[in-house]
Amino acid sequence: MKDFSAEVHGCHTYDATGAITAPIYLSATFHHPAFRRSTGYDYGRVANPTRRELEQTVALLEGGGRAWALSSGMAAINLVFALCAAGDHVLLSEDIYGGTVRLANEIYGRYGIEFEYVDTCDTALVQSKMRKETKLVFIETPSNPMMFVTDIRALIDVAHAGNALLVADNTFLSPHFQKPLALGADIVVESGTKYLCGHNDVICGFIAVKDGGSDLAERIELLVKSEGPNLAATDAWLMLRSIKTLGVRIERQAQNALAIAQWLGTLPEVTEVFYPGLPDHPGHDLQKSQSTGFGGMISFKVRTPEIAQKCLAHLRLIAFAESLGGVESLLTYPLVQTHAEMPAELIRRTGLDDRLLRLSVGIENVADIEEDLAQALRAAAREA
Ligand SMILES: Cc1ncc(COP(=O)(O)O)c(C=O)c1O
Repeated sequence: MKDFSAEVHGCHTYDATGAITAPIYLSATFHHPAFRRSTGYDYGRVANPTRRELEQTVALLEGGGRAWALSSGMAAINLVFALCAAGDHVLLSEDIYGGTVRLANEIYGRYGIEFEYVDTCDTALVQSKMRKETKLVFIETPSNPMMFVTDIRALIDVAHAGNALLVADNTFLSPHFQKPLALGADIVVESGTKYLCGHNDVICGFIAVKDGGSDLAERIELLVKSEGPNLAATDAWLMLRSIKTLGVRIERQAQNALAIAQWLGTLPEVTEVFYPGLPDHPGHDLQKSQSTGFGGMISFKVRTPEIAQKCLAHLRLIAFAESLGGVESLLTYPLVQTHAEMPAELIRRTGLDDRLLRLSVGIENVADIEEDLAQALRAAAREA
């Protein structure tokens, strides 16, 4: 099945009732027909039929052999770091979600795992940082919030040459536009809270691997059933419903985003626009070669920090809120929201500053989004 069809139909099969949508199985435990016999479902922490249908659907969309549906994107990233042991070394994109940095530095760093941040757009630099202890190369592309594009195929080669796993956080594009597993990545993680959900009403995450029978899949399965970070059945059902419209939502968001990115550059208050869909973005051609769309996320800088901060109170349609990927447009101030706990050194290296705003473009009429941004920036400039 191709995109759109796979999103609508997923792995659904009809039960005896012929129900078009998956039932919600709320049972925490399951009856055994006899000693050492199982229906395939024993206990809800290990497997649940509604969650299983969601996992099979996400594995299908990612081009993977196995996926796990978890309680948040951070739960997925936690499982990735839990694959490491004391003495291991992990390379990460230096422009990356602040929560990932916090988990690495504040939690896993204390267990003797070393995390090193590097510009993953520079393949030779990543190669030079590889050590025999390097266990993971963890990338975000496009990255949050500076929209840097990393060459996924090149970094897969670098990681594999050093016996490391290439992990891609695919949150910003979703499997509709980018399938790192199909390019050869070992693990994909995703905040399902964003585009896969699309309605800002479920917190959820996914981890997926290429080969469902591999040692890696077995290790993740062991972590999932031992640590219990799974998604609840009702949330799994909401996610199944959301994913049916992933393609139409994100295609519309990308269409709106391209128009807004082009238009933003004409505003007197705006000094820089970061959107890979713009032909002059340094990652434009690369992203075209490894994905089928540019997504709905735009970051931009305005003339002064005061304009960036004051415009937030003037928004009427767009919500000043963190998160992304929903049908409603959201404007975020990364320095004090999503990236508040980033070490100052990383902030300095990536160019994230107090003039940066991040727009998650929704599916509204593009003229309404532009009108709202224009009036909020104008009002802020008058006040500043
Ligand atoms: C790129 C990226 N990865 C992971 C996460 C974490 O996901 P969640 O909030 O679902 O835990 C986020 C959250 O904003 C994100 O932007």
